[in-house]
Amino acid sequence: MVVGEFFSVFVLCCILLFNIGAEGSHKVYPHFQSLKLAETSANVKEVHRTGFHFQPPENWINDPNGPMIYKGLYHLFYQYNPKGAVWGNIVWAHSVSKDLINWEAIEPAIWPSKPFDINGCWSGSVTILPGNRPVILYTGLDPQKRQVQNYAIPKNLSDPYLREWIKPDNNPLVVPGKGMNATAFRDPTTAWWVDGHWKMLVGTKRKHRGMAVLYRSRDFMKWTKAQHPLHSKEHTGMWECPDFFPVSLHSDNGLDTSVIGENVKHVLKVSLDLTRYDYYTVGTYDKNKDRYIPDNTSVDGWGGLRYDYGNFYASKSFFDDVKNRRILWGWANESDTAAHDVEKGWAGIQLIPRTVWLDSSRKQLVQWPVKELETLRWNNVQLSNQKLTKGNKVEIKGITAGQADVEVTFKIPSLEKAEPFDPSWVNAQELCAQKGSHVQGGVGPFGLLTLASKNLEEYTPVFFRVFKSKDKHVVLMCSDARSSSLKQGLYKPSFAGFVDVDLADGKLSLRSLIDHSVVESFGAGGKTCISSRVYPILAVMKDAHLFAFNNGSESVTIEKLNAWNMVKPKQMNN
Ligand code: FRU
Repeated sequence: MVVGEFFSVFVLCCILLFNIGAEGSHKVYPHFQSLKLAETSANVKEVHRTGFHFQPPENWINDPNGPMIYKGLYHLFYQYNPKGAVWGNIVWAHSVSKDLINWEAIEPAIWPSKPFDINGCWSGSVTILPGNRPVILYTGLDPQKRQVQNYAIPKNLSDPYLREWIKPDNNPLVVPGKGMNATAFRDPTTAWWVDGHWKMLVGTKRKHRGMAVLYRSRDFMKWTKAQHPLHSKEHTGMWECPDFFPVSLHSDNGLDTSVIGENVKHVLKVSLDLTRYDYYTVGTYDKNKDRYIPDNTSVDGWGGLRYDYGNFYASKSFFDDVKNRRILWGWANESDTAAHDVEKGWAGIQLIPRTVWLDSSRKQLVQWPVKELETLRWNNVQLSNQKLTKGNKVEIKGITAGQADVEVTFKIPSLEKAEPFDPSWVNAQELCAQKGSHVQGGVGPFGLLTLASKNLEEYTPVFFRVFKSKDKHVVLMCSDARSSSLKQGLYKPSFAGFVDVDLADGKLSLRSLIDHSVVESFGAGGKTCISSRVYPILAVMKDAHLFAFNNGSESVTIEKLNAWNMVKPKQMNN
């Protein structure tokens, strides 16, 4: 064994042996926070890097922070470790883009430098004050490691890149009050303006009750805590990265965060540290009482709606006033081991930004990749009216299946054969584990086999299965990583969610964004979304294949399938 290899193996063994702690919600590997391996295997490094998702050239990333559009440029900040591939040394890294696709990395915007953030610059948001003046609100960790809320302002408003940020001396703006949990008090939201006051939320918990505490200010500088949280829920644990925004009842357009009135509903999203998923409810904001009440159609808590039923966390939205849309960014962590992350030298990606709006049922949101993503499509392959009888599988040839965008609409001629739905099946992920893509059904399983090796030693199926319950049909959507890689030691969950869709027209659509180590899927036009991180060994680069399949006794037809290669953005961090 050469010295370099020996060193790598030694370091990797150490990762497994050293004590691992936790900070915020992240696992902490103290010895590796500032470590780069002298030798990284080029193979490991490259094959699983994404081609069109946002990721810096190296190192660890987590939450998207403070997304905005300013003077025609989109800005994305994100939690970043400049020194290693595990969480630690966090700064606000900063990238800008004209189109949300091609990104230019510029210097970090904020890093620990003042007493009020000397132990960390954690997540937060941007609010645009009147006169087009952006302000960052973020969580700093002070010398006692208390979580406090700070602000930062651009040094030069005439620079559309907003390269330099100042942290004024009147920070922190908000400190944890008496009786509050100073180590669970973080991630301020974008503030909204109502009746002469700014309002913002900070995530916290009291014992096991998760909550979004509300602060008010007339001048954005002096903040007073409201007596009651905007909302809270027992047994949900720490609420990280709350996000609170209005959605229009009558249009798919997005709204500025301060819009209130009869024509809107509000959405409250919280990132539950205990489960590591982003949950949201649709409800009503009472501006006089400063209370938010979820609709009775929105389950509040662990059983509730998720933005994504896979690997998607700590998301943040913003209003794009140029294109009148609300855009959502979410972070996907690795499903790989920390040891492997250190070896490959990077960890974490941002998922493709999504436009979000309220579904016409008013019960849930709909999400769709931003239109600009389509500019990367190249070399279109089509199929139409292709019947898939039981056990059929067709290969979609002619595209680079490892880096592709696929849209397919299936036509189901009859729902007669749908299997009966057992009402005790409340956990979609367990149901998908029980009824995987191989388990023959009535209507379904049918869908795509993504990142598949030629002989299917590896594949990540994304598929539907339709059941019949008492008075309606139940649609299950799965993105099942269990067979995604021959490699051992990975997290390979059978991610799944139910899809609230009317099958009256007999159609179900699926879009999957496939990008080497991520499969990001949108069921029924974006009603249910699932992202999986996978690490095939065989199904890589030119050896990755894509199939459509049906294992249900009812035949289904691919009414239309469009697949494209995805080119790498011209300018990207990676
Ligand atoms: C969520 C989170 C936030 C915190 C940040 C630290 O992933 O734990 O609550 O501000 O990450 O990096």
